[in-house]
Amino acid sequence: MAEDLVRFENVVYRRGRKTIFDGLSLRIKKGQTVAILGPSGSGKTTLLKLIGGQLRPEKGSVIVNGKDVAALSREELFELRRDMGMLFQSGALFTDLTVFENVAFPLNVHTDLSADLIRDLVLIKLQAVGLRGASTLYPSELSGGMLRRVALARAMALDPGLIMYDEPFTGLDPIAMGVIVELIRRVAEVYKTTGIIVSHDIEETANISDYIYIISDGRVIGEGERGFLREDQSPRIRQFMDGLPDGPVPFHYPATDYAEEMLTENQKVGWFNFD
Ligand SMILES: Nc1ncnc2c1ncn2[C@@H]1O[C@H](COP(=O)(O)OP(=O)(O)O)[C@@H](O)[C@H]1O
Ligand SMILES: [Mg+2]
Repeated sequence: MAEDLVRFENVVYRRGRKTIFDGLSLRIKKGQTVAILGPSGSGKTTLLKLIGGQLRPEKGSVIVNGKDVAALSREELFELRRDMGMLFQSGALFTDLTVFENVAFPLNVHTDLSADLIRDLVLIKLQAVGLRGASTLYPSELSGGMLRRVALARAMALDPGLIMYDEPFTGLDPIAMGVIVELIRRVAEVYKTTGIIVSHDIEETANISDYIYIISDGRVIGEGERGFLREDQSPRIRQFMDGLPDGPVPFHYPATDYAEEMLTENQKVGWFNFD
């Protein structure tokens, strides 16, 4: 049985008064591609930041490669991140660097390799995403789909054991989306990289995942291998799958009473003056 690369154990995480994770537990096995699906605002990006050690849980632990991320020193964290590639939601390329320089960036930061060797490694990764010919272009000269592919080449630059994809399909046209789907599949197959895809695009994500978690209200509300999404009849899973606006998962972000808030706001600007 494959060992766990990532494990969340009863993680509690709050931001201000809002509880984002309320006892979240899940496991990601080495070598698998795992989807974490959930509505917008359910904490998917937060979850990736907990894995990368950018955030720390208030309670519980996040274990990566057998180590409690919150207990690592700066150096150990740097070491751990070297083995993680991240494809950000926004693409997040450096706009004043060329495609080549963007992909070379992690190699320059994390290794002492010679310029010649870095050049070869960058070109291999750009070839893998089909953009070797675009190496001298700047991000502003690329389409959305190409930007995402460069970001993937950069995430792969150090041959990390784990790649985290944050909403990799958002904002892409169907053709560009198909290319990214295929690339994620190929990276997993060829490099045996563990993949975590967080997304609210159910279809595309489920199709390339070995295992799926659905999170809502700070917890896992369903999990299983690919087919379970279609079969699970629990109302919360059905609501998420069928996109029903009303159901057990609340549509509204927790807020103070609407009428009360409007009244006090209005009073503040002096719309109601009963004196
Ligand atoms: N910097 C922040 N400050 C305060 N609240 C935040 C911040 N970032 C995210 N949140 C809140 O945390 C919750 C989870 O956010 P996020 O992880 O980005 O969700 P998702 O990626 O699933 O859309 C959201 O309700 C959001 O409003
Ligand atoms: Mg997000």
